[in-house]
Amino acid sequence: MEKLGKRPMSKKSTILVIDDEETMRNACQQVLSKSGYHTETSADGADGLRKVREFPPDLVLVDLKMPGISGMEVLEKIRKIDSTIISIIITGYATIESAVEAMKRGAYDFLPKPFTPDELRIIIKRGLERRELVLESLSLRREKEKIEKNFISMVSHELRRPLIDVQEYLEVVRAGIVGRLTQPQKGMLEKASGQINTLLVLIKDWLDMSRIEAGRMLENLELLDLSQILYKTVDLLREKIKNKKITLEVNIPAHLPLIKGEKLSIERVFTNLFRNAIDYNHEEGRISVKAKGEGDYVVIEVSDTGIGIPQKDIPFIFDEFFRVKNKKTKHITGSGLGLSIVKKVVEAHRGSIEVRSEEGKESIFTVFLPKFTGTNEKSSVG
Ligand SMILES: Nc1ncnc2c1ncn2[C@@H]1O[C@H](COP(=O)(O)OP(=O)(O)OP(=O)(O)O)[C@@H](O)[C@H]1O
Ligand SMILES: [Mg+2]
Repeated sequence: MEKLGKRPMSKKSTILVIDDEETMRNACQQVLSKSGYHTETSADGADGLRKVREFPPDLVLVDLKMPGISGMEVLEKIRKIDSTIISIIITGYATIESAVEAMKRGAYDFLPKPFTPDELRIIIKRGLERRELVLESLSLRREKEKIEKNFISMVSHELRRPLIDVQEYLEVVRAGIVGRLTQPQKGMLEKASGQINTLLVLIKDWLDMSRIEAGRMLENLELLDLSQILYKTVDLLREKIKNKKITLEVNIPAHLPLIKGEKLSIERVFTNLFRNAIDYNHEEGRISVKAKGEGDYVVIEVSDTGIGIPQKDIPFIFDEFFRVKNKKTKHITGSGLGLSIVKKVVEAHRGSIEVRSEEGKESIFTVFLPKFTGTNEKSSVG
């Protein structure tokens, strides 16, 4: 018996012979079974197609001239049922035209009658190798699609989980539960823990960004009162503001027009802007937060009297991972993702953000978010 490649060794390849001539069906079945293939036969196209749907075969030999459904039609239908099945045409009326026509309709190859057992075996072997390749690339493509689809949750599990575990182990050691620590040892563990925290925040930012990019941003829309959100986010940072002796001015009317948005993301926008206003501010500096309804928008302005942003860097500050690099920013830590998330969230809500700044003096960020009007629900936050 000749070698048939990998597949028949593990799982027998199945071949279906569709031919109205009994002697042809029997001859093919004999040769192919002897070669180790599982072989089935059909006397006409309709029965053949039923069998294709039933198992399905790896390869089909189709006679071109048959009563009932023609070989060409059978070919097309097989392709529709499963495009990975290899079809080979056999016919006694071989002409170049019919071969070309059959190939156009999805046949892999063409075998003119009469043929020898060897010719049959060779063409079948090649066809099955082709099928192997097709299946392999299909499974690779599916794997790739699956990875892309699950990328966000995969990253979250694969990267965050072990980091959180390390963080917990460090906590146990730091707490002295597994033995007393010297002061330098404690200091080092604290630094390690701090770095892991930074990494966890970075991964979270990155995940959020992938979520926004994957269009999964506006999933939990609700009507939001921005004044509540602004007060809440400012409150969360009061301690930081106090520590830096910053004066905070808040000018928000009691009733701002509502917006429709995803609460956590909108909170994130203002936490990021306020955090920047604190981090890039001087000791005893000032921060001002204003909000008002203006035309179709609610306009929120966050300004600070901090280090400002060099004009040449302004076009880049919303880019992912971009950070101004100079003497003044050297000791301020961050990933450079904050403002890119801000911009993506705002734009996903059909809003916009503008920045003005003078180096050494001030930075003013203005956010425009569309008012909820009740009638333009779709167009305002689509
Ligand atoms: N209020 C501001 N005053 C001065 N510079 C600012 C201000 N806000 C942002 N910047 C500059 O823009 C850069 C990008 O800001 P962004 O918030 O995206 O990143 P980050 O603050 O460096 O890191 P993080 O991702 O932790 O927020 C900052 O590194 C800083 O140089
Ligand atoms: Mg920031």
